[in-house]
Amino acid sequence: MDRIRIVGGNPLNGTIPISGAKNAALPLMIAGLLTDEKLVLENVPRLADVALLQRILGNHGIDITVNGKRRGDDAYAGQTMEIDARVIVDTTAPYDLVSKMRASFWVIGPLLARMGQAKVSLPGGCAIGTRPVDFHLDALRALGAEIEIDAGYVLARAPKGLKGARIDFPKVSVGATHTAIMAASLADGETIIENAAREPEVVDVADCINAMGGRIEGQGSSTIRIIGVPRLRGARHCVLPDRIETGTYAMAVAMTGGDVLLAGARADLLESALDTLRQAGAEVTVSNEGLRVTRNGAGISPVEVSTAPYPGFPTDLQAQLMALTTRARGTSKITETIFENRFMHVQELARLGARIQLDGETATIEGVEKLTGAPVMATDLRASVSLVIGALAAEGESMIHRVYHLDRGFERLEEKLSACGAQIERLAG
Ligand code: UD1
Repeated sequence: MDRIRIVGGNPLNGTIPISGAKNAALPLMIAGLLTDEKLVLENVPRLADVALLQRILGNHGIDITVNGKRRGDDAYAGQTMEIDARVIVDTTAPYDLVSKMRASFWVIGPLLARMGQAKVSLPGGCAIGTRPVDFHLDALRALGAEIEIDAGYVLARAPKGLKGARIDFPKVSVGATHTAIMAASLADGETIIENAAREPEVVDVADCINAMGGRIEGQGSSTIRIIGVPRLRGARHCVLPDRIETGTYAMAVAMTGGDVLLAGARADLLESALDTLRQAGAEVTVSNEGLRVTRNGAGISPVEVSTAPYPGFPTDLQAQLMALTTRARGTSKITETIFENRFMHVQELARLGARIQLDGETATIEGVEKLTGAPVMATDLRASVSLVIGALAAEGESMIHRVYHLDRGFERLEEKLSACGAQIERLAG
């Protein structure tokens, strides 16, 4: 298993290109199941999760081609992917694939809407809480599907097609909103989704489905209205930039000090996180090329933050913010309201010398003068990158184990950071 070795202490200076958003690319690829024509996606990031979803879709009989690099393309340009779901040969998504990546459960919406049936494995346990799929199933039931659970599989059937309905989610769920939008796009009649997720990735997917001939309104607000259409066609769509990758590198710069341009980043996708960074003492400026983050001289100020659905502070940046606050001049409080048990980074940050106390869903972080390098273990995607941020500012060497978690969501992390002066390298095996 690969490891990452970091010797901390260097400021970051230079340019980091921001990749396409993982959390948009995955549902966009799944939306390719909605049509028998070609869906072309541009700016798809090169990530382990994307490669795994390619395999999962391949299992349903979908042809996916990834265009090679063109002369003159820069090394970080995203991939262009053509998804061809003309024939769906298999409507079963098996356990051994779905259990590796939760988001693959979302194939249930388009498979059911287009084929009238789907058999999808329950995703199973997950490192960051129980993460059930009840909202997805309730939404599909509301649209007229018959749902049965048998031997760890969800069997969904709608032999006469789905029918538009009113769906009112008891709690904001990104995934269930994707499922409801995709299924309702091919249902008969009007669907209203209340308490819908407002995340930019939901908007990106809805915009893509509209480019395919869908009729979705209100994406980005809590009420989404969908008029179902009998069929969707092919389209070309460019994946929006990754706001979580953007926020992660912004926090890394705030942590180490320095001056970095996050090229291609869109500030409007992460206002709340940028406000927090400014409170912490970083300077954030917006330009045509992206976002510039600077911290020179001044120390890190403590902050109080609660995670919340968009446009609130994202849970996917909670661990990274915690890493930053470990070196603040004072005491910070971070409350996690989206996922129980998303604090696995706490023990590992403590190995670098952080002082963090957990009380239910709130962490109290008492800033320390310095962190010290140590061997640490990556536990999930966002937790592992928080260890990278900690290690970049720690004195001496840190070795991060189990870095396959990082490869799921961060494209060429060590290349991007070392180009800005970090002492970071991947050790194979
Ligand atoms: C997505 C993101 C993930 C992010 C999360 C919250 C992708 C690929 N993943 O995950 O990175 O951390 O949104 O912003 O986009 N819930 C239920 N029942 C359900 C569904 C969800 O109780 O049927 C609960 C979950 O346990 C959680 C909350 O709702 O407490 C929000 O989860 P959700 O928004 O659905 O997360 P994901 O879509 O899985």
